[in-house]
Amino acid sequence: MHHHSSEFLSRKYLVLTERLGIRYPILCATAGGPFTIDLAVAVAEAGGLGGLGVTRWPDELAKDRVRMIGARTSKPFAVGIILAILPSASRKLALVLEAGAPVVQFSWGTPTPEQVALVRSFGAKLSMQVTNLGGARQALDVGVDYIVCQGQEAGGHVQAQSSWLDTLAPILEIAGDTPVVVAGGLGDGKALRKVLLNGASGGIFGTRFVATRESCAIPEWKEQLTTAIAADTALTVCFDEGWPQSLHRVLRNETLNQWEASGSMPKGRRPGEGEVVANDGTNDILRYEATSPIVGMSGDPAETSMWAGIGVDAIHDIPPAGELVRRIWAECVGDSCSSLAPS
Ligand SMILES: Cc1cc2nc3c(=O)[nH]c(=O)nc-3n(C[C@H](O)[C@H](O)[C@H](O)COP(=O)(O)O)c2cc1C
Repeated sequence: MHHHSSEFLSRKYLVLTERLGIRYPILCATAGGPFTIDLAVAVAEAGGLGGLGVTRWPDELAKDRVRMIGARTSKPFAVGIILAILPSASRKLALVLEAGAPVVQFSWGTPTPEQVALVRSFGAKLSMQVTNLGGARQALDVGVDYIVCQGQEAGGHVQAQSSWLDTLAPILEIAGDTPVVVAGGLGDGKALRKVLLNGASGGIFGTRFVATRESCAIPEWKEQLTTAIAADTALTVCFDEGWPQSLHRVLRNETLNQWEASGSMPKGRRPGEGEVVANDGTNDILRYEATSPIVGMSGDPAETSMWAGIGVDAIHDIPPAGELVRRIWAECVGDSCSSLAPS
């Protein structure tokens, strides 16, 4: 059985695209590290929702970057804030809203009523990443414009306890008119089609956008994404320096392999602990740091954490991000469907 495009286009995604003012239900993850201003602008200009994570940047830098995106595109983009690791989230939130963030996406926590009121006072949209029914209820109480349902297929830090396939259906049951978008393991338009066929309104792509021209991931990371398969990724707590005991999905590398070979020793007894593996021009980066390798780092940046989701199976090239957005949509509704349809 397959769904012909007209049948699959239940048009449910239009609630999301109209609400956000975007053309396609394709959202760029709100990632830090390799995600650049250029990437956010390219995705937004192509009709997706641009995305940028600002959690780890100093507040003023976060503000400047949000302003720079807004100066280069009038199209919407989301700014990501991880609440769990940001004690002063409200200050950062105020600054990015002042800088013109059109959408704020919260993860690892529920925004306070004051934070929600602040977002609304700027006329910005709001969403929250959830991983179960309890989280979805909280998001609905907050009054989010859309819910992000993350699954363990995801690259980077994994908030989820299971696959999005397990959590999506119950969340949809209570979500009513609030659109739900899926994050985790989406590598191409076929994956997006699966997401929409399962009743979600859109898909978030993180790892797929790391392998684009606009990302500033080191070439080795991008190239490995084009050849790796899902089994080359690992869900682990290996790179938890800076965010203790955090679960994340990465590409296997020397650091991970040697840590596992040592019996996955706890902090304090890990092989090569304290070793400087790279330098970003200002700071040394230690072996188990949750820092991703970007262009300009010296040393062996590939020994740090190269985040990747299981969608790597479908990644085979490093295209411009705008071209990728259009391709994902074509694969979702057109090309692959028509090749299945009777001629
Ligand atoms: C390189 C990279 C960096 C990420 N950084 C963040 C981040 O700073 N904040 C956040 O909430 N999620 C972050 N994520 C997770 C994404 O928000 C999203 O859940 C994930 O990328 C979706 O799975 P996928 O990578 O398989 O597409 C990151 C993901 C990647 C791949």
